[in-house]
Amino acid sequence: MYRTETCGDLRLSHVGNQTTLSGWVHRTRKMGGMTFVDIRDRYGVTQLVFNNETNAELCDKANKLGREFVIQVTGLVAERSNKNTNIPTGEVEILVEKLQILNEAETPPFTIEDNTDGGDDIRMKYRYLDLRRSSVRSNLILRHQMAFETRRYLDQLGFLEVETPVLIGSTPEGARDFVVPSRMNAGEFYALPQSPQLFKQLLMVSGFDRYFQIAKCFRDEDLRADRQPEFTQIDCEMSFVEQEDVLQIFEGMVKHLFKFVKNIDFAEYFPRMTWHDAMKYYGSDKPDIRFDMKFVELKEAVLGHDFVVFDSADYVAGICATGCASYTRKQIDELTDFVKRPQIGANGLVYIRCEMDGTYKSSVDKFYSNDDLKAIAEMFNAQAGDLILMLAGAKTKTQKALGELRLEVGARLGLRSKDVFKPLWVIDFPLFEWDEDTQRYYAMHHPFTSPKPEDLAYLDTDPGKVRANAYDMVVNGVELGGGSIRIHDSKLQNRMFELLGFTPEKAEAQFGFLMSAFRYGAPPHGGLAFGLDRFVSLFAGLDSIRDCIAFPKNNSGRDVMIDAPSVIDQSQLNELNLVIDIKISESK
Ligand code: AMO
Repeated sequence: MYRTETCGDLRLSHVGNQTTLSGWVHRTRKMGGMTFVDIRDRYGVTQLVFNNETNAELCDKANKLGREFVIQVTGLVAERSNKNTNIPTGEVEILVEKLQILNEAETPPFTIEDNTDGGDDIRMKYRYLDLRRSSVRSNLILRHQMAFETRRYLDQLGFLEVETPVLIGSTPEGARDFVVPSRMNAGEFYALPQSPQLFKQLLMVSGFDRYFQIAKCFRDEDLRADRQPEFTQIDCEMSFVEQEDVLQIFEGMVKHLFKFVKNIDFAEYFPRMTWHDAMKYYGSDKPDIRFDMKFVELKEAVLGHDFVVFDSADYVAGICATGCASYTRKQIDELTDFVKRPQIGANGLVYIRCEMDGTYKSSVDKFYSNDDLKAIAEMFNAQAGDLILMLAGAKTKTQKALGELRLEVGARLGLRSKDVFKPLWVIDFPLFEWDEDTQRYYAMHHPFTSPKPEDLAYLDTDPGKVRANAYDMVVNGVELGGGSIRIHDSKLQNRMFELLGFTPEKAEAQFGFLMSAFRYGAPPHGGLAFGLDRFVSLFAGLDSIRDCIAFPKNNSGRDVMIDAPSVIDQSQLNELNLVIDIKISESK
């Protein structure tokens, strides 16, 4: 038997027992005639003691143990004189009588500690060692618990988990697809699913009225801290439901997970905000409502003072940073540099300091008198000591930039604590989004989302005005999930495809199976999907979803451990009937 207990089991109550433990050598220290070895496994760390006086040979063997050797020890559990209150096994130690080396180890490239000395790249290359660190391991344990509890919760409500295929067809909407060449169908490709969207709708047509799946999804998009090319959704769909039914069922699931994992109760309904208000007051479709700092629109108030930046802008708005009038020139310059970053794209930042003596100082006081500045400050309800920050420019772009500035200032003011959770439903998204570059409408959510019945009349006259029965669950500024009530009428679905620029032939080629299914009795249906990785990261307080994924990709979409993606053999290419452009293969 390799072990009678784990390295996390032993307590004072075991004192006097014989035990056998197996695990990794975490740390070794020599003190006088004694050698102390910490043995570690998934469950914890236990101190082993080797006494040179009582068994010199065994102690000598222990002194030669290297970090991360795999060992097995047998000995007596004893009470420690020097107790370690930081770990659950810290009151006991093992007086070792037998030591067996099960496997030697090369010295690892970084220490297996919470605060390791290993940089990101090296830890990703040796991810199997990184996963030995308790901080990373605890994230995977949390992930397991959340997935398990989600399954239990949904099962109780009658949801069936149904798997859907991973080799499917490419669809041009949404993100870029990952594609897989087909050997048996020369020149043809599968695509990996960006989500099980169409399959879950087909399951509704099949009568599985409560479906869920913890499903892998694949999207070839630019990566960020909250995006991975392959990620996991808690994907759900229901039949015979309206938006309100979906919101209530899944608000219940989110509340349940908050209670189960964080022991946080949300007695009230989650607040709801229309997409329009989210953009107007927070410049974002996923507002972080842990703090207020709402936008105030200023165009009318600032117009006509010969300040050309404001006069020529189609939108001027600002935020009030409480207590920040004392910001130094350098701090304001930092915020100005922040909004001017290419990814934020503002041209500059205008400020008004509300001084403690009741006067106002501003970067534009050449154009605005003290009274003018006072009048602006009053629009924010600003108090002495506050700092007003204003941006001007094209509406959507400036709203987004001010939204980023708001988050930055909120972070600097310590208003974005990871221990505070503020969930929010964002509802009434527009059905379409106009794209200037391609001069066409795109579905804001996806082409299967149903318009609000009361807005149907605008479909032909002013599609940009049509709101969708679509909703997102946002917590602390993170889009945790989203979904919609679907179109279940083939005529309306065809009309959507038409508005999205599909010819009838193209719509038939891409989505013919769905249209055909809808002709055989499709129930009204709707659903949503949560990003499991984002959910776990939020609960674990992580900065990147990578830290709750066992084997994640880096920012270039590479798995540096297995070195993927990689070039494939010529014989494989031949089998797949593929020819690689020689310029690409030479540059590799
Ligand atoms: P959507 O595209 O909004 O909707 O995705 C749902 C949720 O999945 C998560 N997510 C991601 N997580 C990590 N990395 C990514 N690259 C990534 N992309 C999305 C987010 C997001 O809220 N089929 C629809 C859902 C529906 O309509 O039912 C869908 O996929 O948390």
